[in-house]
Amino acid sequence: MQGLGEDRGVKNRWLWKGMQRLGIEVLNVAEDDIGELQILGVDLQDGDRFISANLISTKTQAPLLKPYTVKQIPLKGSSQKYRIGFLGLSGRESFLKTEAAGYTWADPSASARKWLPELRKECDFLIVLACLPASQAVQLAVDNSNIDMIVSGSKHQMSGFPAKINQSTILYAEDEGKALGELRFSVARGQKVDVQPLNHVLTRNVKDEPEMAALIAQAKADISQGQLALVKQSTNTTSLSGTLSFATSARCAPCHAAAFEAWQNSRHSHAIDILKKERKEFDAACVGCHVTGNGRPGGFVNLSQTPELANVQCEACHGSGVQHAERPAQAKMARLTATACVACHTKSNSPEFEFATYWPKIKH
Ligand code: HEC
Ligand code: HEC
Ligand code: HEC
Ligand code: HEC
Repeated sequence: MQGLGEDRGVKNRWLWKGMQRLGIEVLNVAEDDIGELQILGVDLQDGDRFISANLISTKTQAPLLKPYTVKQIPLKGSSQKYRIGFLGLSGRESFLKTEAAGYTWADPSASARKWLPELRKECDFLIVLACLPASQAVQLAVDNSNIDMIVSGSKHQMSGFPAKINQSTILYAEDEGKALGELRFSVARGQKVDVQPLNHVLTRNVKDEPEMAALIAQAKADISQGQLALVKQSTNTTSLSGTLSFATSARCAPCHAAAFEAWQNSRHSHAIDILKKERKEFDAACVGCHVTGNGRPGGFVNLSQTPELANVQCEACHGSGVQHAERPAQAKMARLTATACVACHTKSNSPEFEFATYWPKIKH
């Protein structure tokens, strides 16, 4: 669940709807999830899908939810059901106040040591769902030799190749639905079960499932409406037009005609359009890299207050040119290198980025 931002209520309602639709059977309730799920009015004692080994009731000092759960799956080539155990662990950073709501986070590694032996006896394959920074997930594998797999997910983490540490395979899950993990269990007659972890990166080439695509379209429209309403209520006027600390590309054009033309023909000059198409132009989680000077004093605030700073303009890369545009010979602009690109062209938002192939497309 999203634990930050004014628009998190409307986002979480849709996130939860989508998760219901996906039929998720086991859910590690972590960090802000508990508070957000309580706000949504979800019954956390419903069935055995909500787990956490280190979410503790302040009243009873016992786990608030089931520490673990076991799911039985049929395997081709075997008459016996295969038992997969899931243990949930979470980091201890909550945005929402925890104590008042009746729960607190215990140390995840101590909680793991406490519950792992019991779960190990009840299952054939043991998976820890770990909402922990990668370093803590690795430590978990080093300290315990009874975990088969650790699925580690933390804020804005990339997915990657599985790593084998001690007895455990560690998988890194990516946020924002950018990758789909798959564990493929197979068994040859009378032989050991083989588990193959797969990671499917959901690039633009992967087709949407039609029913889910329809739900997402509804969600986008509703979230966008919610965000627009928040923008209209917003009292942040620190950067209204007239007090901008960016000159905008139009100001550079008369003296740098060739650069301006190259820029106009690039996708940077209309980078906000793709967000409009996605109905994400008021989403604070998206606009940052599709505009100029986001969040900086006198920079982009939102599309309604600072429309002239939409798109990746000259100063998104070159920095403020207000002084330089007044007195170009005296106020020099800084020299740029490839590092100017990777603030936005991150591995997760621009997986194919290489300066050598991208620069020629916007050369000026
Ligand atoms: C960290 C910076 C960053 C953030 C945050 C960001 N983007 Fe982007 N986005 C980029 C960059 C860079 C590209 C160009 C990628 C390329 O072509 O290599 C891009 C391209 C896109 C594209 C066009 C590429 C395509 O797949 O066709 C869409 C759509 C898009 N972004 C939507 C979003 C949405 C929606 C969000 C919020 C959930 C978002 N972006 C947040 C940097 C960002
Ligand atoms: C996406 C980032 C980006 C944008 C947007 C951008 N530039 Fe640049 N610009 C660069 C980089 C990087 C270089 C340096 C390239 C090199 O030296 O090989 C550069 C070089 C230049 C130079 C030449 C400087 C020199 O070393 O001689 C000028 C002038 C310039 N840009 C002006 C502009 C203007 C005007 C705009 C808008 C119309 C603009 N740029 C938009 C990244 C950008
Ligand atoms: C009034 C004309 C004028 C305007 C407006 C102007 N520039 Fe320049 N710019 C120049 C001149 C002239 C130079 C060359 C300065 C020199 O070589 O001494 C220059 C040089 C540059 C350079 C190379 C580095 C340097 O300072 O020598 C960059 C980058 C640049 N301009 C970017 C911009 C951007 C971005 C804008 C808009 C915000 C802009 N300029 C607006 C006239 C202008
Ligand atoms: C402020 C954020 C930001 C910075 C800095 C930035 N970009 Fe981009 N770039 C974007 C976004 C967002 C898009 C996608 C725009 C769209 O598709 O509408 C993009 C798209 C591109 C594209 C088009 C990709 C395609 O498939 O055609 C190229 C090329 C590119 N950027 C090169 C660069 C280079 C080179 C630099 C550094 C000199 C750079 N960018 C710096 C945000 C940025």
